[in-house]
Amino acid sequence: MGDTLLIRAGLLNPVDANRWTFHREGGLLLEGARIVDAGPLARFREHPASRVLDLDGVLVPGFVDVHIHWVQHHVRGRFQSDLMEWLREHIWPEEAGFEADDFARRHARAFFTDTVRAGTTQGMAYSSPHLSALRLAGEAARGDWLLGNAIMEKAAPEPLRRASPDNVDQVAPLLAELGTERYAITPRFALNCSAGLMRDLGDLARRENAFVQTHLSESVNEIREIRAAFPEAEDYTDVYDRAGLLGPRSVLGHCIHLSEREHDTLARRRAWIAHCPSSNEALGSGRMNLAAVRRHGTRYALASDVGAGPSHSMLHVMQRFLAQHRQAGETVTPQEALYRATLAGAECLGRGDRAGDLTPGKRADFVVLPAPDAGVAAEDWFEELLAGEARDLETRPLQTWIGGAPA
Ligand code: GUN
Ligand code: ZN
Repeated sequence: MGDTLLIRAGLLNPVDANRWTFHREGGLLLEGARIVDAGPLARFREHPASRVLDLDGVLVPGFVDVHIHWVQHHVRGRFQSDLMEWLREHIWPEEAGFEADDFARRHARAFFTDTVRAGTTQGMAYSSPHLSALRLAGEAARGDWLLGNAIMEKAAPEPLRRASPDNVDQVAPLLAELGTERYAITPRFALNCSAGLMRDLGDLARRENAFVQTHLSESVNEIREIRAAFPEAEDYTDVYDRAGLLGPRSVLGHCIHLSEREHDTLARRRAWIAHCPSSNEALGSGRMNLAAVRRHGTRYALASDVGAGPSHSMLHVMQRFLAQHRQAGETVTPQEALYRATLAGAECLGRGDRAGDLTPGKRADFVVLPAPDAGVAAEDWFEELLAGEARDLETRPLQTWIGGAPA
């Protein structure tokens, strides 16, 4: 074994949607960027590590945000109205500004600085349609990110349409160049794309086993416009299904107003839902039907959906997840919140074998949270942290490690 580092700290690690493990006095043994062992500190008495470091706090896996618009970071949480109005009046004009490289570079740096400070180490993000802004975000990225330029060939302001790919031959070379680990095919939502283009993108995604990100069934007005634009489709989900855009590497944002038929389609295609509770609350979009998602066994992970989501802090997203579903009388636990904001996100992004929790063999991505007082149970401590401090923690930087080093 080469140089090793033993970190002594608390450890809180998700196992699945129902369980986590907690060691108030834990040890995490690293060799370079990888975790080689993790567990109660007592176990490490026998391990002569090259170096030992005490971190004052509890380590949790780096957070994963599977649906965020980096180009909306500077206008997050600013407006509260209907989705379509918010997009047309506020968001699309703002995104047109990413044509300018200086503007895009500055905002890309600010975005990745802020996400690291909030403990997010991985994610999948929407860029504006501009190729230059996508490349600048790729250069500025900190952590493990999939990025896609939003494809908006129609029903959008002229500057965005002009910047957008309008043909699969403009997307395929980009996917070939950046690879499926970095580039996600991103038809923004069905209103911005023709059925023909979506079919070509669906073919490309299947041929290359590429990730697809888009929005599905977020607001009632949006659904009304979709019905008018695609009269031949059974419903909103069918618009994407006909195009071949639904598969195990498809990540659908929101999925709020789905019928049983649509839930069934998503489950059969093994698509993932990006559940965005704080965004849905901010825009008054509604609440994802968690009971239906569970009944169909559809996989989902949590996401901030900044800028509709008011905060990029996954602590805040977890807090709203717990609060909203409890208000609706549904059982949700802190264990599930942590899993959905970490390991489930890594699984959603095809990285569950490499990251997402603190187990041997995985990349050492973690966040140091302030430790509980003596005698406080892990559940109570975690809930209090989410309830009281999520916003505060967004601005008071967390210590975040990516690949075995402080980020
Ligand atoms: N639907 C299409 N574009 C967007 C977007 O930027 N944000 C949200 N929340 N929904 C969308
Ligand atoms: Zn979104």
